Amino acid sequence: MVRELTVDLGTRSYPIYIGEGLLANIAAYFEKHGISKASPLLVVTDDHVAKHHLKPVLSRLAEGGYTAVSYTVAAGEKSKSLAVLEDVVGACLQAGLDRKSTVVALGGGVVGDLAGFVAASYMRGIRFVQIPTTILAHDSSVGGKVAVNHPLAKNIIGAFHQPEMVLYDTSTLLTLPDRDVRAGLSEMIKHGLIWDAEFTAWCEANAEKLIGLNPEALQYGLYKGCAVKAAVVSKDERENDLRAILNLGHTIGHALEAVAGYNELQHGEAISIGMVGAAMLSVRMGNPEEIFTVTERIFKKFGLPTRIPAHFDTEAIMRAMMHDKKFSEGRMVYIIPTAIGKVEINKNVSAEWVREIVDRLKRED
Ligand SMILES: NC(=O)c1ccc[n+]([C@@H]2O[C@H](COP(=O)([O-])OP(=O)(O)OC[C@H]3O[C@@H](n4cnc5c(N)ncnc54)[C@H](O)[C@@H]3O)[C@@H](O)[C@H]2O)c1
Ligand SMILES: [Zn+2]
Repeated sequence: MVRELTVDLGTRSYPIYIGEGLLANIAAYFEKHGISKASPLLVVTDDHVAKHHLKPVLSRLAEGGYTAVSYTVAAGEKSKSLAVLEDVVGACLQAGLDRKSTVVALGGGVVGDLAGFVAASYMRGIRFVQIPTTILAHDSSVGGKVAVNHPLAKNIIGAFHQPEMVLYDTSTLLTLPDRDVRAGLSEMIKHGLIWDAEFTAWCEANAEKLIGLNPEALQYGLYKGCAVKAAVVSKDERENDLRAILNLGHTIGHALEAVAGYNELQHGEAISIGMVGAAMLSVRMGNPEEIFTVTERIFKKFGLPTRIPAHFDTEAIMRAMMHDKKFSEGRMVYIIPTAIGKVEINKNVSAEWVREIVDRLKRED
């Protein structure tokens, strides 16, 4: 069964297909969505993903009459750089990509962000298709944010560039390491926490199935996660207001990633701690205790971290946060859960209270 949903963005609307084994029909999907056979395609991937999933994609495309060349970058966040961007653009030129060509991102968020930004900038913008191969990429492949990093800041060189479609073949996830499975599920839970109490409860009840990559559970969870992201992005593509709610847990999360030098904690792990912190802050502000207990219980069930490792320095975390977010007169904008499945964008959160929470996240077990 293939599940389908649409990211509703007027003339830039596009479909997300989710199903097991749908890459076997990749050429048919491309044809259906008007991807030209007259111009070459570039499939961008990384060396982990290439090992398992590149060959069948290239053969199915060739069988379907497409000329597809591939370019493989080193796996890992370091490939989201201007230097690697230049290499991929070199590959586009060598393969003879023209204005009617398409860049195909086969991989996780790193490949999606990098290849998407190549597509956004090559010849001032050509088409691209996202083929996510991680659970986290149910988030990153939807919404059109594409970017590379600068040594001083993450995702700071980028664009909004929506794909033609997202082809999510859940059988590619079977080769994903367990740690990446859990980290990706953290964003799925986030989509429940910001939007849908029922889905949050479903995630909790199906934790074991999700961690164990049960196909039915996985497909439903990814479908619901993508649906929340699509709904939010459709209402606010360029993050003027509502889209900010997708950043639940990311204020502390990004700071932890920065302090750890993007090594110790994966993104999904950093934001699970951040979401527990946001829940503590919410209770501190007078919201029901249940927001904290339920949030913490869910992340524990998924084996995701809920506390900051003790050796992290509170001041360094606060500095990283100030670098990332605007404080004015000791106040900051913060995504605060007000119930399970509901958040508010609070523009008046005391930075002092945030420091208190960071401290508490370090002390308590
Ligand atoms: N654009 C957005 O809206 C958005 C949103 C969230 C995150 N992101 C970005 O996403 C990135 C993180 O994404 P990620 O967690 O997918 O990281 P990733 O792309 O680095 O993938 C994680 C690891 O899994 C490997 N891998 C991927 N698919 C595999 C598979 N099927 N089998 C085996 N190994 C596989 C990769 O090689 C890598 O080692 C970050 O750079 C983050 O900034 C972007
Ligand atoms: Zn995130």
